[in-house]
Amino acid sequence: MASVTPQVIHTVAEWRAFRAAHRAAGRTVGFVPTMGALHEGHASLFRAARRENDVVFATVFVNPTQFDEQQDFDKYPRTLDADVALMAGAGVDVVLAPSVAEMYPNGTDYTVQEATFSRELCGAHRPGHFTGMLTVVMKLLQIADADRAYFGEKDYQQLQLIRGMVQAFFLPTQIVPCPIVREADGLAMSSRNARLSPAERSLAPLFNQVLRNARTPEVARAELEAAGFAVDYVEDRGDRRFGAVRLGATRLIDNVAR
Ligand code: PAJ
Repeated sequence: MASVTPQVIHTVAEWRAFRAAHRAAGRTVGFVPTMGALHEGHASLFRAARRENDVVFATVFVNPTQFDEQQDFDKYPRTLDADVALMAGAGVDVVLAPSVAEMYPNGTDYTVQEATFSRELCGAHRPGHFTGMLTVVMKLLQIADADRAYFGEKDYQQLQLIRGMVQAFFLPTQIVPCPIVREADGLAMSSRNARLSPAERSLAPLFNQVLRNARTPEVARAELEAAGFAVDYVEDRGDRRFGAVRLGATRLIDNVAR
């Protein structure tokens, strides 16, 4: 596909004007929200949106309210120029990169909170994370006013919570799940992988191997700890196994079908 540089805008009003024109022309819109520092995992979402819609809209917004650690927010990579280049190659038409003030006109007076599943797995270790995530995704879905929105199974709990929110609040956008994109050695692609030291990076693929091969979550935890990972959790839920670990200051999550 020929690569066309996407239009980069910074205000909700500008997107609304595009959206109104697309609606008048009867075009379908696919939406991909991101926090930037884009990699092939994100690109797979853009391509899926490109295949299934007339227009592809993406956002790059490092959402402060979903970071439970200020340091993680401060250190989160911000690479808008490289992100726009990747989006050009993946068929994105319009990118909204808003300021925090643009996204939070009422500060955090209004939030979206889920009462049960958001407290489990990652939620048990990252207080407030899923409230911040659901709040910004609610805002983004309202702004996008898309036919379809694309989310990765890499963040499986996030995907499930978003599906629940869409059902609970009768949001009209169809949520499309996309498979996890991995490095050749099995490590799930993540913007945080760039922070791993060479030694941590060479240990990291063991996380996925152990999740796939250990007989029980307890065995997985023991094997990961013996190898030098700090384990937040490994749990089997339904037909999936979920895990979160830390290597130094970097937190990694993954999940596999059982
Ligand atoms: P971010 O981590 O940038 O991820 C944006 C989307 O890309 C998410 O749907 C995520 O699941 C997907 N993704 C990331 N790595 C992937 C991989 N290796 N394979 C497949 N998909 C992958 O998730 C967020 O941002 C934020 O929470 C957001 C939804 C944008 C709200 O702020």
